[in-house]
Amino acid sequence: METLAQQINIEKTKHSKIDQVDFDDLSFGSIFSDHMLVCDYKNGNWETPKIMPYGPISLDPSAKIFHYGQSIFEGMKAYKDADEQVWLFRPHDNHRRFNISAERMAMPEIPQAYFMEGLETLIGLEKAWIPSTDGSALYIRPFMFASGKGFHASPADAYKFLICLAPSGAYFSGKVKVLIEEKYSRSADGGTGFAKAGGNYAGQFYPTQLAAKKGYHQVIWTDDHKHEFIEEAGAMNIFVRLGDTLVTAPTSDRILDGITRKSILQISERENIKTEVRKITVGEVVEAAQDGSLKEMFGAGTAAVISPIATFGYRGKDYDLPELENSYASRLKKRIVDIQYNRAEDPFGWRY
Ligand code: COI
Repeated sequence: METLAQQINIEKTKHSKIDQVDFDDLSFGSIFSDHMLVCDYKNGNWETPKIMPYGPISLDPSAKIFHYGQSIFEGMKAYKDADEQVWLFRPHDNHRRFNISAERMAMPEIPQAYFMEGLETLIGLEKAWIPSTDGSALYIRPFMFASGKGFHASPADAYKFLICLAPSGAYFSGKVKVLIEEKYSRSADGGTGFAKAGGNYAGQFYPTQLAAKKGYHQVIWTDDHKHEFIEEAGAMNIFVRLGDTLVTAPTSDRILDGITRKSILQISERENIKTEVRKITVGEVVEAAQDGSLKEMFGAGTAAVISPIATFGYRGKDYDLPELENSYASRLKKRIVDIQYNRAEDPFGWRY
C-alpha cells in the first residue's frame, strides 16, 4: 500500500526564487520558500495533501476565519548540520500540541501521518532553503484555518491545513526591554491561552504597541485576576533566575506548554541547575531586582530560542539586569542549539 507521502501530488514551480535570497542576511519569517503544502478538510475527512508553488490562495469572503477567527498554528524549525543532514526538534510534540489547539478551537484534528509525512515531503523538496549560517534555520509554520462558508457563528464545515517555510535569522536583535503589564491580559482561566490560536496573538498587539510607545519591545504578561503573577514574555514562556534557581510559571489554561520551555527544564535537571516550576509574583521579582538576587530573566520559544531580557519596566521604573559572564541563558541556549544542529550528543532523543 502507498504511504501518504507517496500519494502527495507535487506541482513544482517553474521559477525558483532561491537565487534572490541572501542567506547571510536573513530576517525572521519574511521570505518564503518556493513551495507550500496544502490539505483540505471537507465532508468530515482530510483530503490527500498537495504540494504546490508558494502563492496566494482564494477564499470565499464568508469563510469563517475572517469572521470568527478559527485559526491555529505551530512554530518549528529545520536545521542543517555540517554534513548537510537535516534535523527537526521534537516534531511530534508540535503535532500533539497542534491537535490540542484544534480541539479547543472546535477544529478537526490532523492525523499524525498528514502532519509528519507532509512536513518531511515538503522539507525534502525544499532542502536547499535551509540556511547553514550559524543562528539561522528554516522556520516552519504549519497552520489550519476555517475555510468553510457562512455567517452563522458556529464552527466551520471545511478547513485548510497548510505548511509554509521561511528561511530565518534571529527573532530579536539587540537588547530586549520589556514592560510588566498591569492592565491588559493575554489569557484567562477557561480561555484559550494554552492554545496556539491566532487570536491569542492578535490580542497582544495593541498592549504591545502601547508598550512600544514607551520604548519597550515586549510585554510581560501577568495573570488576569490581579496582575500579581508573571506568566509569559511576549509570545514566549518566561524564566527568571533568583540566586542560582531558575524559576518558570506552571502551564495552565493561560500558559502555553512551550517545547523550548520544557526542554530547558529537562536540560537543567540533567545539568544540576536547580529549577522550580511555581507561580512567580511580580513583587518578588521587583524585590529581587532591588536586592541583587535577580540574576537573569529570559524568554523561551521556538522562534527566539532563548532571549535574554536586559531591562524590565514596572510602574514607571526601569530595572536593569546584570550582564553575566556565564549566564544560564547562554549555557542553556548552547545546549539546545548544539542538539538542534547535531553538534552534540542528544541524550534525550529529541533530534529527528
Ligand atoms: C514561536 O516561537 O515559534 C512562536 O510561535 C512565536 C511566534 C509568534 C513567532
